[in-house]
Amino acid sequence: MDKRKKDKRYQRLFIQIEALLPKGNTPISAMSSIAAILYHKMDNFFWCGFYLLEDGKLNVGPYQGPVACQELEKNKGVCWAGINEAKTIVVPDVELFPGHIACDSRSKSEIVVPLFDADQNVIGVLDVDSKELNSFDEVDAEYLEKILDLIHKKHKS
Ligand code: SME
Repeated sequence: MDKRKKDKRYQRLFIQIEALLPKGNTPISAMSSIAAILYHKMDNFFWCGFYLLEDGKLNVGPYQGPVACQELEKNKGVCWAGINEAKTIVVPDVELFPGHIACDSRSKSEIVVPLFDADQNVIGVLDVDSKELNSFDEVDAEYLEKILDLIHKKHKS
């Protein structure tokens, strides 16, 4: 999908997600709806979901797509890098990312976006995988970050 088309699609999705999350929604229900909407509306999203920090472990949260790893080995792979660096990581080719954890060998590229609570602590990540190389760029990063910001904004207000 070209960047302009992708930008427009994310703009529509952002409005849809913002309208869907009522005030007082719990973070888990917001994450579930976000994973479902993104997975079903973005053609290249082969796996889309959350990994959440629980007692120092990174466990799978709400997701859509093939069954994924339950827990990710500490400080290994893309999701842990997103947690430890507290920043979005775009991986054009997963084979080239040291320590990448392959929950499904069909995944070829990936984006990981950190999830912050209302006090700006990292509490998990959104992870999206594609079956194609080079699927994600700064447009995905910008909108996925904006979408994740809705989770605790809505919850707090
Ligand atoms: N590839 C991730 C693991 C999660 S799966 O892609 C769903 C990683 O390296 O952390």
